Amino acid sequence: MIYSRIAGTGGYLPERVVTNADLEATVDTTDAWIRERTGIERRHLVSDGETCSDLAERAARLALEAAGLAAADLDLIVVATTTPDQYFPSTACILQQRLDVHGCPAFDVQAVCAGFVYALSIADKFIRLGSAQNALVVGSDAFSRILDWTDRSTCVLFGDGAGAVIIEAADTPGVISTHLHADGAYKDLLQIPGGLGNGDYANNRVEMKGNELFRVAVTTLSRIVEETLAANGLERSDIDWLIPHQANLRIIQATARKLDLPMERVVVTVADHANTSAASIPLALDQAVRDGRIKRGELLLMEAFGGGITWGSVLARF
Ligand code: UT7
Repeated sequence: MIYSRIAGTGGYLPERVVTNADLEATVDTTDAWIRERTGIERRHLVSDGETCSDLAERAARLALEAAGLAAADLDLIVVATTTPDQYFPSTACILQQRLDVHGCPAFDVQAVCAGFVYALSIADKFIRLGSAQNALVVGSDAFSRILDWTDRSTCVLFGDGAGAVIIEAADTPGVISTHLHADGAYKDLLQIPGGLGNGDYANNRVEMKGNELFRVAVTTLSRIVEETLAANGLERSDIDWLIPHQANLRIIQATARKLDLPMERVVVTVADHANTSAASIPLALDQAVRDGRIKRGELLLMEAFGGGITWGSVLARF
C-alpha cells in the first residue's frame, strides 16, 4: 500500500496588522464585541498589490525547505482558494510558474473555508493511486479583497494568509482518512451573490447569515468528528491534537468539548489571524509544528466548515 505523509509545513501572514481597535475607527463595532463573540483580536491583511499567489509562494517555499525538497521535485500542485489572483489561469498555475516548475498537474480547489481539507484529500488520493510522489498543497486567501468594509457583521471576522504542506509517498500513513461533504441547500448562508451567472459584477462582496451559520457549523462539525472517529475505530482520547478551522473561538470550543479535549490540545490561532478561510488550518498546523507543540508520531484531527456549505476532516499521523 502507498500512503501519503506530511513531509513539511510552511505559513505566511502579510505584514500589515489591523487590530480590533483600528476597526473601531472605521465601522460601528467595539474591541469587546469582537473578542467576546469571536475570540479575534487582530488580523493580517494584504497591502495594495499583494495577491493570493504572493502569499502562497511564501508559504510554499517554507514548506519545501521544511520537507528538504526542491521545487523541481514536485509532481502535483493544488491550491485551495476563493480569492484567486485572476479568474484564470488558476493560482496553482501562477504559483507553478513562480516556483519554476514545469509540466506537473496544477489546479485550484474552491471550497471556501473547507478548501484546505478538500485539497489535502485530493492530493492524498493522487499519492495513494501512485499518480504523484511529492505534492504541494496550499491554502491561500486574501479574503479582505472580497469583504464589504462597511458591513460590521462580516468585515471584522476575516484575515489574509497562506499555509502549505508537502505530502510525500510513504509506506505507512501519514494521512489515515479523509472525509468530505457539501450541502448546497445551505448555499445562501454564506455567499457572494454577484457573479458571472447573473451578470451582477458590482455586488461581489461577502454576505453572511452569521447566526444561522453558527448553529449549522456547530452541529456539522460535531458530526464530522464522530464520523472520523467511528470510521477509524478510535476513541476521543486517541486524538493528540485538534487543528480546527479558525472561524470563531466559540465554535472551536464546542468541537473540543465534543472530543473531550482540553484546550491545551487544540491549536488556536483565531485571536491573531482571524478567519483566513482556506489558509487557517495549514497556518495553525505550521505554527504548532514550528513551535514544537506537534511532534512526529502524534495523531492530528483537522476539521473545517465553510460556505457552500462544505465541510470535512483529515485524520493524520504526523
Ligand atoms: O468560516 C466559515 C464559517 N463561518 C462561521 O461559521 C461563522 C459563524 N458565525 C459566527 O461566528 C457568529 O454568528 C458571528 C460572530 C458572525 C456573530 O455572532 P453572534 O453571537 O451570532 O451575533 P449575532 O449575529 O446574533 O448579532 C448579535 C448582535 C446584533 O445586534 P442586535 O440585533 O442584537 O441589536 C448585531 O447587529 O451583534 C450585532 N453585531 C455587532 N455589534 C458590534 C454584529 N456584528 C457586530 C460587530 N460589532 N462587528
